[in-house]
Amino acid sequence: MCSFRRVASQTALISGLLLSGLPSANGHYGFPVVLINGIASKWWEFIRWDSEPMVCGWNGTKTGHRTGTAKIEAGGVIGFRAFAATYNEGFVKTREFDAQIDGVGHTGPGQAYMSKAPGALEDYEGDGDWFKIGTSGASDGMYWDSTGKPEINFTIPKATPPGKYLVRVEHFNISPQFGMTQLFVNCAQVEVTGSGKGTPGPTIKLPGYDPADPGIWIPRAMYNPYKPSDLLKKYKGPGPEIWTG
Ligand SMILES: *[C@@H]1O[C@H](CO)[C@@H](O)[C@H](O)[C@H]1NC(C)=O
Ligand SMILES: *[C@@H]1O[C@H](CO)[C@@H](O)[C@H](O)[C@H]1NC(C)=O
Repeated sequence: MCSFRRVASQTALISGLLLSGLPSANGHYGFPVVLINGIASKWWEFIRWDSEPMVCGWNGTKTGHRTGTAKIEAGGVIGFRAFAATYNEGFVKTREFDAQIDGVGHTGPGQAYMSKAPGALEDYEGDGDWFKIGTSGASDGMYWDSTGKPEINFTIPKATPPGKYLVRVEHFNISPQFGMTQLFVNCAQVEVTGSGKGTPGPTIKLPGYDPADPGIWIPRAMYNPYKPSDLLKKYKGPGPEIWTG
């Protein structure tokens, strides 16, 4: 979890998280489990648990060598399963999914990005180019599609060229107050197979968001409208256009 308001005081926030490390005590969550076409991985099997918080989550750009690589054919579905925590490995025990406390805990959108490793995936710190593969918004104009769900699913575009990638999930605890939106981020190591020949883009570098982006600092009229609203249906996540392949 990191909040745009606190980007300048990351150290303080990290200590705060360590001190408040009780699962679900304050509604935080992360994505230690990946689903490949519906088959769940072990905890941290393919998710890096050590990074620049905005790139791959707390402590997650540098643990590639301790992380496995999941295989998925282009066109398949990757899901990121959320568990309540203020964690890294070490301060939350691996456990079964508990529908009472686990899942995507806050109201807001989710997005996923991919970045191809220029060399060995395990050494890649995510400082290259990222393209977006999906946004989970509020399709009924009322509720955020991902909120309360056990995982967020994204399709790896069929035209994705084979190779080794970081796949990054982010979920926003969205707020209409400037600087109050919080971000929950993790990265999975993934080998894409198949015969995709697309050219993914447009790309961005991370962290690349403007905290004033309306996808982050959401207009008050779009916040909890409690009735279907075209405004919320038209929510557009921050970052580049989605590459569908
Ligand atoms: C995610 O996809 C898997 C199959 O790939 C499915 O079993 C699961 O229900 C989906 N989750 C959501 C929240 O849609
Ligand atoms: C994560 O980073 C913090 C702060 O740098 C450190 O205290 C902690 O031990 C790290 N956790 C792991 C699991 O490496």
